[in-house]
Amino acid sequence: MGMRRKLIAGNWKMNGSVGALGELDAIAAAAADAPGVDVAVAVPATLIELASDRAPALAIGAQDVHDRPSGAHTGCVSAAMVKEVGARFTIVGHSERRADQGETDAQVRAKAEAARAAGLHAILCVGETAAERDAGRAEAVVTAQLAASLPEGASGDWLAIAYEPVWAIGTGRTPTVADVAAMHGALRARLRTLLGDEADALRLLYGGSVNDANAAELLGAGDVDGALVGGASLTAAKFVPIIRAAARL
Ligand code: PGA
Repeated sequence: MGMRRKLIAGNWKMNGSVGALGELDAIAAAAADAPGVDVAVAVPATLIELASDRAPALAIGAQDVHDRPSGAHTGCVSAAMVKEVGARFTIVGHSERRADQGETDAQVRAKAEAARAAGLHAILCVGETAAERDAGRAEAVVTAQLAASLPEGASGDWLAIAYEPVWAIGTGRTPTVADVAAMHGALRARLRTLLGDEADALRLLYGGSVNDANAAELLGAGDVDGALVGGASLTAAKFVPIIRAAARL
């Protein structure tokens, strides 16, 4: 504990184009100015190669991978495929994929294991819906998601967990700092029962409407080791202040 480096990861989702890659220049410069912070950007699969060529010092990643190495899966890409073109990590289990593609905990777990087998790092997302939080079930739901989607061989060397309340994603609404700290404490405790001492090596990111105005507060919450940032990662103007906030902690 106390040894975990901050990680600020962007998630461009289905946004960005070849013309947007110029944003990476200032993001890479900010990352170079923040040697204590790891900076990563998950771009659309079509941009991975160009992004990693343009910003070799940044960790460029994918937003999803299939759980099989190859085969008859039209429209999907494998972990080895994104790795071959420069991805160093992938997100798995983002709530948009759990909702839009119906991904289950078991599939998310298999995707994380496929990422590891291909030599990628992974950011595994969990989070409750508004209805689940209103029903007082947020911690139970999220820790159960974690337990069911945690891959074999989970360790801080390659895996980070992102707590992203579904109702906070893209909405401008965030949990209180106390709620974030409570959830991260619950996740850490569950990781300890699952992984023993290795639990302390995994980074726990917060995600959901992180921006330049709230980053310092959210990143300062107990057991928060970084952020997964959607909308505010699309431009350097919005993403760089979040990197700087992490560097000041
Ligand atoms: P947001 O997205 O920052 O736009 O809320 C976060 C995420 O979905 O990873």
